[in-house]
Amino acid sequence: MTVLYTDIRELVTNDPTHGDGDPLGIIADAALVVEDSEIVWLGRRAEAPDADDRVSCADTSVIPGFVDSHTHLVFAGERSAEFAARMSGQPYGAGGIASTVAATRAADDATLLAGVGRLADELVGAGVTTFECKSGYGLTVDDEARSLRIAAAVTDETTFLGAHVVPAEFRDHRAAYIDLVTGPMLAACAPHARWVDVFCDRGAFDVDEARHILRSGMAAGLTPRLHAGQLGPSAGIRLAVDLGAASVDHCTYATDDDVDALAGAADTTVATLLPGAEFSTRARYPDAKRLIDPGVTVALATDCNPGSSFTTSMPFCIAVAVRDMNFTPAQALWAATAGGARALRRDDVGVLAVGRRADFVRLDAPSYLHLAYRPGVPLVRDVVKAGQHVPNSYQKLESRS
Ligand code: NIG
Ligand code: FE
Repeated sequence: MTVLYTDIRELVTNDPTHGDGDPLGIIADAALVVEDSEIVWLGRRAEAPDADDRVSCADTSVIPGFVDSHTHLVFAGERSAEFAARMSGQPYGAGGIASTVAATRAADDATLLAGVGRLADELVGAGVTTFECKSGYGLTVDDEARSLRIAAAVTDETTFLGAHVVPAEFRDHRAAYIDLVTGPMLAACAPHARWVDVFCDRGAFDVDEARHILRSGMAAGLTPRLHAGQLGPSAGIRLAVDLGAASVDHCTYATDDDVDALAGAADTTVATLLPGAEFSTRARYPDAKRLIDPGVTVALATDCNPGSSFTTSMPFCIAVAVRDMNFTPAQALWAATAGGARALRRDDVGVLAVGRRADFVRLDAPSYLHLAYRPGVPLVRDVVKAGQHVPNSYQKLESRS
């Protein structure tokens, strides 16, 4: 069964062989043909082949589905009071994680699964067709393993984050907690995870601890990624490069030496920026131009979590990235699609080309520029994931009522 999507005013492919050589590879007046889950043709609509079915995109724009390479969806409870306190001047610290850990441990599987399902629906409703999901609010062998089993119900991109913080019961026994993370917890979690991550920052884990934990994860067959440089300058960014991590996330306080190291590792290690975290913690924003100009590969992700960034909206992140982080609109869209795919080492998504997965979004707008130009407006009109049309949230609301 082939489906022709036509009447696309502006098609963003992320394939620079199209258009004027720009990384977004834009084709004007375009069409694409999908067969089952794959793209089998794309180009100018006047040259489109016949197909079994035909869908008009009504002269709007089509972009690749967003690839969100950093989320923490498995948790119970919420922390709006902590957010309100921050907006009244309180600083953000890693300590707030403990209250989500307590609520998550107390929740039954059905509650956690329902929460993850709701957030996964929000993500896809906002145009995210691939996302990563971390554990990290269980922090016992059983609670971390169950968090990953629950994450695996909604994505294959699961990350073991037993080293999120040292839990209260190990406060005076850090070394024992690290032995647990790198021993029995890793053994229980590795079968359910693709990635290993550490929160390497003030109030969480230092760079030597992070190195040991990531190396243990790598020995168990997991690929490293790292939180670093969110709360202050951190040798963690260099560590991520040295270990060949797929991504180092936050990078808010990257130094000039960190930028040089990331630029030298642009084919291996992505710098993932998380605008929702700076927005929601009222922190300073990193300067994307300082990273992109020397050649660093940059991704944008939501960091959806109940403490520092409770958003599932990639369009919101793009708008903040453009307004406050010195991204051009084109760089922000690339980072939220192809950049996210690079951060997850995926070459089947993030780019619209023959043979790639048919993951794309139709915007209710003539150009992708409207994602930043019309902040807060729900422009995601249709989401197609692996060739299947996903009902948008408005339709879901209608069918629920
Ligand atoms: O990516 N930085 C560590 N983890 C999350 C915050 C988690 C929380 O505050 O609950 C983050 O921002
Ligand atoms: Fe995070």
